[in-house]
Amino acid sequence: MEMNLAFFILPGVLCTTWHVKYQPNKICASKGSSVIIPCTYEYPNSNSLVEVMWSRGRAHFYDGPFIYKENKAISNTSSKFEYIGKNDKNCSLKINHIEHTDSGEYAFRFLTTNNGMWTGRDGTKVTVSDTIISIMRPEENETIKEGKNVSLICENNCTSEVIWFKNNEPLPERASVIFFSDISSHDSGNYSCATKHHSSSLSDVFRISVEYEPKNTSVSVRPAPEVIRGSNVTLTCSSNANPAVDIFLWYKIDGDHCLKMGSQAKLQLNNAETAHSGHYFCVVSNKHGRQNSTVLTLKVKEKAMGMAETWLIATISALSTIFIFIALTVAWYFVGNRKKNAAPKTVPAENVMTADVHITRPISDFNLIYEEPSEEDVTYTTVYINTKHNRNMK
Ligand SMILES: *[C@@H]1O[C@H](CO)[C@@H](O)[C@H](O)[C@H]1NC(C)=O
Ligand SMILES: *[C@@H]1O[C@H](CO)[C@@H](O)[C@H](O)[C@H]1NC(C)=O
Ligand SMILES: *[C@@H]1O[C@H](CO)[C@@H](O)[C@H](O)[C@H]1NC(C)=O
Ligand SMILES: *[C@@H]1O[C@H](CO)[C@@H](O)[C@H](O)[C@H]1NC(C)=O
Ligand SMILES: *[C@@H]1O[C@H](CO)[C@@H](O)[C@H](O)[C@H]1NC(C)=O
Repeated sequence: MEMNLAFFILPGVLCTTWHVKYQPNKICASKGSSVIIPCTYEYPNSNSLVEVMWSRGRAHFYDGPFIYKENKAISNTSSKFEYIGKNDKNCSLKINHIEHTDSGEYAFRFLTTNNGMWTGRDGTKVTVSDTIISIMRPEENETIKEGKNVSLICENNCTSEVIWFKNNEPLPERASVIFFSDISSHDSGNYSCATKHHSSSLSDVFRISVEYEPKNTSVSVRPAPEVIRGSNVTLTCSSNANPAVDIFLWYKIDGDHCLKMGSQAKLQLNNAETAHSGHYFCVVSNKHGRQNSTVLTLKVKEKAMGMAETWLIATISALSTIFIFIALTVAWYFVGNRKKNAAPKTVPAENVMTADVHITRPISDFNLIYEEPSEEDVTYTTVYINTKHNRNMK
């Protein structure tokens, strides 16, 4: 009982109507969570409430400073401490997002009219615990290699009921220890844990990166496994390894032995020759081991006539044929005219046509044959199709 209270209260009769009760007296809270300190109180009906206060630490029970204070003039707006009592009998206090500095003994004090005042001594003791995630492995600092036995531990002094998260997704595990026997690369991830009822009491993230030797090593080729001579070919060696592959070696199988071809992830064959054809593979390694890749067969072919070229040649042939047909027709016309005019001697030497075409042969392989110009030689089997000047033939 508070000393100065006795002064105002009539002894005996009313004494029992003044009290503050806390239930429970001890609270363990996970850091980051919100806790409620349950509290009830009572005062004589003849009085009315004037002020409520919460303090932390025995030295502050009566005089403060108070962590929470509310009367007609002061309305506490702290986001950390919420007075959730409100009604007559309830004086509970809520502590949001609790931190280590919030630990201590909390007590409630209130004032009434008629100079009534009461402090509930022996307040509730609040302790705050971290949620700590840690790993236990055979040897400290050893990398976590596939196949090892590893334990993840979630430690909280308030409770052993925890929940686990892997990459922010909840895990079904409920115990405070997860045991990985024969850990695999699939167990790699970001782990965290929290106490069961307070997911806000989250631990730090613990990253497990399971290391392993190269796996699934393969060779891919660009642009294709079959190319024509002169192409630029890129062979790529890919592998799954942790830590990443640090040594690449390229080989070409040559009879019963292997030729070393390169030591980068990519093997570049520029201006490929047919001799580049063959079987290729790579060997990769990291600190845990090495692996041979699958074998890739590359085929470099001689250049063959492509579709486009075939079409081009066909088109040129067709156009030539049409042109020659027109030329023949024109020539025919001129020859006919000249015969009619019967004036061959008026044709200047320079304009004499110089080529004969022997159309007795198949059109496909006819030749242009130069002859000494002679009007008398003109026959129906010989036509002039060239109007080129004949200086050199004279
Ligand atoms: C639990 O309490 C012990 C002793 O007070 C302390 O050393 C330890 O750090 C606490 N653990 C956590 C997770 O808060
Ligand atoms: C483990 O690693 C930490 C930090 O890298 C280092 O301080 C400590 O000495 C190492 N312990 C052992 C046993 O190697
Ligand atoms: C290797 O490939 C297999 C089949 O494609 C796959 O199931 C496995 O997960 C791969 N391993 C790694 C480490 O990527
Ligand atoms: C092949 O690569 C060389 C060198 O990078 C380049 O000069 C050439 O143009 C490339 N040839 C083809 C067909 O891409
Ligand atoms: C991997 O390739 C090397 C040649 O570099 C060969 O000697 C070895 O036998 C191969 N290993 C396997 C498992 O095929």
